[in-house]
Amino acid sequence: MTRKIVFNAGPSALPLPVLERAKEELLDFEGTGLSILEHSHRGKAFTRVSEETLALFSELMELPKTHSALFVQGGASLQFAMLAMNFLKPGASADYLVTGHWAKLALQEARRLGTARAAADCAEKGAYVRLPRAGELALDPKAAYVHLTTNNTIFGTQWAEYPDVKGVPLVADMSSDILSRPAQASKFALIYAGAQKNLGPAGLALVAVNRDWLKQARTDVPDILRYQIHLDKQSLYHTPPTFAVYLAGLVLKWIKENGGAVGMAKRNEEKAGLLYGALDRLSGFYRAPVAKEARSRMNVVFRLPSEELDEAFVAEAGKAGMTGLKGHRSTGGVRASLYNAVSRRDVETLVSFMDDFARKRG
Ligand SMILES: Cc1ncc(COP(=O)(O)O)c(C=O)c1O
Repeated sequence: MTRKIVFNAGPSALPLPVLERAKEELLDFEGTGLSILEHSHRGKAFTRVSEETLALFSELMELPKTHSALFVQGGASLQFAMLAMNFLKPGASADYLVTGHWAKLALQEARRLGTARAAADCAEKGAYVRLPRAGELALDPKAAYVHLTTNNTIFGTQWAEYPDVKGVPLVADMSSDILSRPAQASKFALIYAGAQKNLGPAGLALVAVNRDWLKQARTDVPDILRYQIHLDKQSLYHTPPTFAVYLAGLVLKWIKENGGAVGMAKRNEEKAGLLYGALDRLSGFYRAPVAKEARSRMNVVFRLPSEELDEAFVAEAGKAGMTGLKGHRSTGGVRASLYNAVSRRDVETLVSFMDDFARKRG
């Protein structure tokens, strides 16, 4: 079997040692005689996996004592709704920094439930190729919270420094860059992320919440959608996606063994440096539309001189063993997602392919 190099935007590459270990233990988890898939979520084996995974997530995120971690099903999209259901009370208003497709969806969901404002929207002709400048934020000092998306998966922008929101609780969707760098968790009242990019399989969301802020949450929400309930029940309010939690645990161990968030940041900076370096060097052929200061280290977006060449690039890269390079269906072009599990070597292979392609077709 030859494994491909996976540049998928999500679900995306998983570390090979993680997949190998999961394969090894699939039939018999730690000598228990059954698969982790077959263990009861209330049994000793899974309870330990769940507790260890929550603890490791908290450790790697460097959560302050004020914050707790929890797992929720439903991916990041459910979080768009759950956040507003819990924290957008009648009569209150929330601010959203609209920096891309997912940020816009988060705002739309909040608007179904209450008042939510776009405190910034940096779209230019429908594209989000930069981030708002400090002077462009029209923040409401009385907002229930400010929501931002740390990394724009589709257009390829990423906040390098978070904006000063003057004491209003800050909430982040970190789905596409969680644990790719230190999280600065103490800046946030709540962080959520779908697991399927940097942390494991789809369907699971990881949440970190400030417990004091949580005390202000609404209680007239169905239990399944209340953060407090999930916290009180240690993320075992109902049957969790046990295999996803187990696999996220293996990914977190791999992150720890490879230097934690700081180690990931170094690795990701180098990888992104290689790819953007190539794009800048070959700028007569490839075009990287994102403003330099807003470039994402996770999702590198670029175009070739024509749509035909974009397609040919993706097809030929596929033949050379690289998959997942097609841009999002809404933007076209090419996108290489360089999540934690993508190695420097994988990026070197891509860069050398880009050199060859530009030479042949440029
Ligand atoms: C930044 C961001 N937020 C939210 C989502 C939606 O995640 P999910 O599909 O888990 O609901 C995505 C998916 O790619 C994303 O990139």
